[in-house]
Amino acid sequence: MLPLLSLAVSCLLFLALASGAAIRRDTVPPDATKAAVDAMMALYDEQTGLWDPNSTASSWWQSGVALWALTEYMVKSGSHEYLPQALNTVKIQRAPLTWWPDGDGEFRADSTDDTGWWALAMTSLYELTGDEEYLLIAEEDEAYMYKYWNTTTCSGGLIWNIPSRTYHNAISNELYLELTAKLHNLIPEDTMYLNHSLQEWEWFKNSGMINGDNLINDGLTDDAACVNNGMTIWTYNQGVILGGLVELYEATGDILYLDEAQRIADAVVNSATLVRDGTLSEPCSNEEACEPNGTAFKGIFIRELAKLNAALDDHRYRSFISQNAVTAYENAQNGSNFYGFQWQGPYDNVTIGTQEAAVQLLVAAYL
Ligand SMILES: *[C@@H]1O[C@H](CO)[C@@H](O)[C@H](O)[C@H]1NC(C)=O
Ligand SMILES: *[C@@H]1O[C@H](CO)[C@@H](O)[C@H](O)[C@H]1NC(C)=O
Ligand SMILES: *[C@@H]1O[C@H](CO)[C@@H](O)[C@H](O)[C@H]1NC(C)=O
Ligand SMILES: *[C@@H]1O[C@H](CO)[C@@H](O)[C@H](O)[C@H]1NC(C)=O
Ligand SMILES: *[C@@H]1O[C@H](CO)[C@@H](O)[C@H](O)[C@H]1NC(C)=O
Ligand SMILES: *[C@@H]1O[C@H](CO)[C@@H](O)[C@H](O)[C@H]1NC(C)=O
Repeated sequence: MLPLLSLAVSCLLFLALASGAAIRRDTVPPDATKAAVDAMMALYDEQTGLWDPNSTASSWWQSGVALWALTEYMVKSGSHEYLPQALNTVKIQRAPLTWWPDGDGEFRADSTDDTGWWALAMTSLYELTGDEEYLLIAEEDEAYMYKYWNTTTCSGGLIWNIPSRTYHNAISNELYLELTAKLHNLIPEDTMYLNHSLQEWEWFKNSGMINGDNLINDGLTDDAACVNNGMTIWTYNQGVILGGLVELYEATGDILYLDEAQRIADAVVNSATLVRDGTLSEPCSNEEACEPNGTAFKGIFIRELAKLNAALDDHRYRSFISQNAVTAYENAQNGSNFYGFQWQGPYDNVTIGTQEAAVQLLVAAYL
């Protein structure tokens, strides 16, 4: 090296060190994704087939999302390391639930969205194994959810709360959109699932759930008016819709679905509430306030944003996704690949919700 250049480099290095400026990473170590999966599996309980089952900070549906995240990791990495655990979970949890005896198994509980998460995990397990048994479970789940398509109020859409037959909310209908379009794309010659998916989208886009800022509130009012209830704009409700629209685009070739998805994704990325200093954030202020359910939401959004990103020629969301992964790795991780809730840090506390969100983030960014 030329002495002058060498001197300049040394000076810069000295300045960087002396000023205490952290040298920012632009990536994470190559084994970070697998390490996050391994840490998630440390929360796994063979006996129940659930993740972190005894914690009050976990919910049953989050184990469905953990299974979805785990199977997607295996599909994308080619690893089958945790297939025995995935199959163990299905074997145990597809039985009728002790805490919801009205459901007759195959992942049916007291709200329609619960079934949607497990059903999407089944489609992913089918992609991983090619075993039609899992596709059949997903189809049975679709039929179960469709039973709650309710035209008595709001001219259609799924209701969320099964015991009371109330609440047309966003998440159940978004999951139903993605599930039906995905089933159509997995099943040659299908027309029924595509019809159901188009029926859902026609209803959803006219329901008022998508507000004037292109963001999606929690649901509709339960009175005769059935208008947007103005409730919390959770990140996952901006995410699952993207996955559904990408599947519909793949089913039909109609670019308008991607345009709609981009309007929603752009509204999130540019939102001062949902993105703080470039980092995806939940409207609830801290981990305790978001527990148990909200801790998993951000990973779901990012997983679906990555799906949209992959469908676009310009991959315009790639840097947003990888920036979030680097931020979470540096700030939300506790030194042993367990991740807390706030991706901007400091590390707060790991739950299955926070850990599966980190797995979905890293898989989205690096696989
Ligand atoms: C959960 O609690 C049950 C009953 O108290 C216990 O038998 C089981 O070992 C616990 N599981 C875990 C993973 O801690
Ligand atoms: C539809 O909603 C109404 C009003 O909540 C309820 O009475 C009815 O049982 C529901 N039907 C179905 C099929 O869920
Ligand atoms: C789906 O809709 C198309 C057009 O409306 C109709 O021809 C077809 O029979 C429907 N398929 C099923 C399974 O309902
Ligand atoms: C979390 O979600 C489950 C399933 O939808 C629900 O039963 C439970 O009440 C929720 N918990 C909180 C605190 O919102
Ligand atoms: C990270 O959290 C896990 C789970 O609570 C714990 O077992 C581990 O010791 C923690 N690692 C460090 C370096 O604190
Ligand atoms: C931390 O997480 C554990 C489950 O992993 C949960 O039982 C505990 O309540 C959480 N603590 C706080 C302060 O959130």
